[in-house]
Amino acid sequence: MKILVLGSGAGGGFPQWNCNCRQCAGHRMGALTAHARTQSSIAVSADGESWVLLNASPDIGQQIRDHAQLHPRHGLRSTPIKAVVLMDAQIDHVTGLLGLREGPCLDVYATPCVFEDLTTVFPVLSVLEHYCGTRWHMLPIAGSQTSAAFVVDGMPSLRFKAVAIPGKAPPYSPHRQEQAVGDNIALLVEDVVDGRRLFYSPGLAEVGTQELQWMSDADCVLVDGTFWAEEEMRHAGLSGKTASEMGHLPQIGDDTRIGMLDVMLATKASRKVLIHINNSNPILDEASEQRRLLDGHGIEVAYDGMEITL
Ligand code: MLT
Ligand code: MN
Ligand code: ZN
Repeated sequence: MKILVLGSGAGGGFPQWNCNCRQCAGHRMGALTAHARTQSSIAVSADGESWVLLNASPDIGQQIRDHAQLHPRHGLRSTPIKAVVLMDAQIDHVTGLLGLREGPCLDVYATPCVFEDLTTVFPVLSVLEHYCGTRWHMLPIAGSQTSAAFVVDGMPSLRFKAVAIPGKAPPYSPHRQEQAVGDNIALLVEDVVDGRRLFYSPGLAEVGTQELQWMSDADCVLVDGTFWAEEEMRHAGLSGKTASEMGHLPQIGDDTRIGMLDVMLATKASRKVLIHINNSNPILDEASEQRRLLDGHGIEVAYDGMEITL
């Protein structure tokens, strides 16, 4: 399986357009050893020919331009992108659908909660009916149904399993304060030929025994790297919101729960990678002590253009 990291940043990317924090300003001044990052999305393929996007970032135009694998190959107009699977309805994960409107009818795989948000309070899919149109592939995750196996049309060598996870619906969603099953999913992607597995979850609020099991079964975990610490945004003077309030498990734990770092250390995946890195997270600074700590544990920080072959 081939994995392309199209974007590795959280909402806003890095540096964020309106942010003068130490890291964003430092990057602009060239005073920081850090790469700019677009908003998170990855592409997955079994053969390097057909690709499925996991989330569609607002930066999708730049991301496709930057990746030759996603360029049109034959005919006057074409695309190797076969479908988009959505993990949630967050702005940074779905707005890129609008950037695909010039292409053929879009195959979108998502849960009922996500289809609902995207046709009511944030009607991206309804708008697309006036352009390319969309074909809905419902991932039946709702109520007591917490997982669903599926295949993506045109990608016969990959098997997908969507699993409900703890997270947050977008701020604009009626579910924001009370999560429903299907607001947030993670994805297990398996190559049927060699059995290799990816666990993808750019927004993960908590890791319980079930999540830990899925992660332990994967050869590569590509998971929520938004925040280093619970109160990171407040300490930087950027926002009063905590990581938990935003639906993200920080890398460092506290008295009440373990952090993503401990989780990753407990899994036996050969590749352990953090993605969806917020501009406030010190791991963006390659010279930081936090980054050294990750390096010491063999935990990688995804960057735009990173390619993983499993
Ligand atoms: C989040 O995951 O919490 C987002 O990155 C917020 C946003 O899209 O602004
Ligand atoms: Mn986000
Ligand atoms: Zn910043």
